[in-house]
Amino acid sequence: MTEVTELGYITVGVSDLAAWDEFAAQILGLEVVQGDDANVRYLRMDYWHHRIKLVEDASDDLLAIGLRIAGTLEFRAMAKQLQDAGVEVRIGSRAEAEARQVLEVMFLKDPNHYPIELFHGPLVQYDLPFHPGRRMHGVFSTHAGGFGHMMLNRAAGLEEIHAFYTLLGLRGGVEYKIPMPHLPEPVELMFLHCNTRQHTLAFGTPGEKRINHVMLEVTKMQDVGLSYDLVRRAKIPVIIEPGSHANDQAYSFYLKNPSGSMIEIGWGGREPTGQSEYYHGDAFGHTPVMSNMKGFMVPA
Ligand SMILES: [Fe+2]
Repeated sequence: MTEVTELGYITVGVSDLAAWDEFAAQILGLEVVQGDDANVRYLRMDYWHHRIKLVEDASDDLLAIGLRIAGTLEFRAMAKQLQDAGVEVRIGSRAEAEARQVLEVMFLKDPNHYPIELFHGPLVQYDLPFHPGRRMHGVFSTHAGGFGHMMLNRAAGLEEIHAFYTLLGLRGGVEYKIPMPHLPEPVELMFLHCNTRQHTLAFGTPGEKRINHVMLEVTKMQDVGLSYDLVRRAKIPVIIEPGSHANDQAYSFYLKNPSGSMIEIGWGGREPTGQSEYYHGDAFGHTPVMSNMKGFMVPA
């Protein structure tokens, strides 16, 4: 079976590019590169051409999830694997691949109707080392774990989503059953991995937007603290106070981005344990800021 190897990139529609320019560089520490088109920004965090592509768009939401496949042979095997399972796949043209700075790309939709781009061969620019948008103690933790993780609100059932993503080679399942005093059933959150990162994609509850949060991991704990100080100083809403997750055991906090979804800045995440387990809550902290929580379910 052919498997996805990492969360390679995402494309996000944003209504206020100028706000994102400032936020990405000065708050998150990402490198902002102007696209050929004035309506496009590329956000870099390592040697890759980009990890996040921002496109001026009123949706303020996810436009594509770029999942990496190892190489040419695996790309062909994945296309066959999906077609044999009855999943509709379109192989992208050379121009479509070049527009994404990859060698080959194929397009499909997940059960939530979210656009997936399976690709191999990203453009890696060893002649253009990452230049952070502001001071950092360390760097972003990417390498074999992809650029981070993403929790998505869901439009389909967890079983259906699980069946689809396991066909792509991701593994995992429900890891949180969070009791909610006002609900008859606990809230269930599902986490899927495909490499050394404890989870790459997670699915929560239905929501207004596709994105619940995007998590970026840093190599130094001090960069979580520095980011927190910068967020407070800029009066950006903190949605979840610092704390430690039970599943990936990362120390992190959540802030609101200019598009209204969340960014999680974390440090110290562990690798998948290889066996399933579940939790009622986190190790410590991660207290929701109730006055800023409107529109968000409980993330993990
Ligand atoms: Fe997260």
